[in-house]
Amino acid sequence: MAGEDAARFGGPPCSPEIAAKMPDSRLMTAPTFDGVDLIELAQRFGTPLQVYSAGDVRRRVQSLTRALHGLDALICYAVKANSSHALLKLVAALGAGADIVSGGELERSLRAGIPGERIVFSGVGKTAEEIRTALRAGVGRFNVESADELECLSGVARELGTVACAAVRINPDVDANTHAKISTGRAENKFGVSIDEARSWFAQARDFTHVALNGLHVHIGSQILSLEPFRQALQVVDGFRRELESSGHAISSIDVGGGLGVSYRAAQDSPPDVADYVAVIREALRDFHGRIVLEPGRWLVAEAGILLTRVIRIKQGSERRFLIIDAAMNDLPRPSLYGAWHDIVHVGQASGPVLAYDIVGPVCETGDTFAQARELAECKGGDLLAIKTTGAYSASMASNYNSRPLLAEVMVDGGRHALIRQRQSLDAMIADEVTTPQWISE
Ligand code: LLP
Repeated sequence: MAGEDAARFGGPPCSPEIAAKMPDSRLMTAPTFDGVDLIELAQRFGTPLQVYSAGDVRRRVQSLTRALHGLDALICYAVKANSSHALLKLVAALGAGADIVSGGELERSLRAGIPGERIVFSGVGKTAEEIRTALRAGVGRFNVESADELECLSGVARELGTVACAAVRINPDVDANTHAKISTGRAENKFGVSIDEARSWFAQARDFTHVALNGLHVHIGSQILSLEPFRQALQVVDGFRRELESSGHAISSIDVGGGLGVSYRAAQDSPPDVADYVAVIREALRDFHGRIVLEPGRWLVAEAGILLTRVIRIKQGSERRFLIIDAAMNDLPRPSLYGAWHDIVHVGQASGPVLAYDIVGPVCETGDTFAQARELAECKGGDLLAIKTTGAYSASMASNYNSRPLLAEVMVDGGRHALIRQRQSLDAMIADEVTTPQWISE
């Protein structure tokens, strides 16, 4: 989507002389995002502030839909990437369903108007209670990850007098070549089951009177920047699908998971094109005539988000120059959790020499570091910066650590803007605590 970056970031980014001397990551972001002035947004709503471009999300859903043309395909947005009500409503209005992993994500999806039959329920730890609620809501498909879960699903469905539609999540033992903490398709990972185990489930399928076991699922990890792991995983799944069909088991749907990567480091990352990704799916599943489910999360929303933050102060340490900003690891945990890189740029004009900064938040941990020795045009207190590619796994992973209220979120759309989550108040942050505990003795 690099060509569309210009559409989102309008106006002249900086003087051509300065731009010519700077690599991408030191460039300034133009002061507008999807037609809205970022400097004004920061003044109106304060910082740190998450801003999402509805236009970008819309373009991505549409381009994925176009790439899937002619296939019986359903895009089930992975809610964990960003569970904002406004974003869920946006993707739902474009026809997408949801991939959920908890009762909370089910509730959010239903409230955003996503019908149960467009929801797939994944995850290794579904409780009987969550399964019950999901069956009552008419959830279309359960991606089952263990024998115990299959029994639980069968028991709850029997109790409710219904039949659950289920798919086996296959662990294909394929290396997704991504960060170890977000790799899910190796045999040593907790996700899915081996082909051998899945084969034995299908052998007993007729005994499960309240489960229709008729689907396959695979998801090998996230932020995958090469198509080869997808190809390998789908070949394993399709080989098994053929084996099952030839022994009389009808497979009506294959869920290919999510995982397509995005660009966090403009100067270096080159994620696959979405049309090439879909071509891999088409090729691997060319003999399969049922429904194909996709669960993209990051690819749909990550690059549509930026985090606006102000410089609180500069601190010259004895060894390093620290740029202390008002966003922290509680707002955007990815750098502290995975050592993740996010491009960080000035918003609007910046002049002065390029300096190397350790960019850190106010939280009392050394891990509260967004970047080390990052080169930026000289900064001063009050400067506005944008941390890029924060639409996914940022607000949805935020916490109140250090008693920092959850930040505000704004959606922008072709020159309009709307507050979609107000900044959490201190009262709301502590509201659920019991201030005078009532001690009870047995
Ligand atoms: N389907 C399943 C079953 C998943 O577990 C996930 C992500 C997805 C779909 C969506 O994957 P995506 O298209 O977004 O790559 N917090 C980490 C990412 C964790 C991903 C967890 N599962 C990060 O910030 O990089």
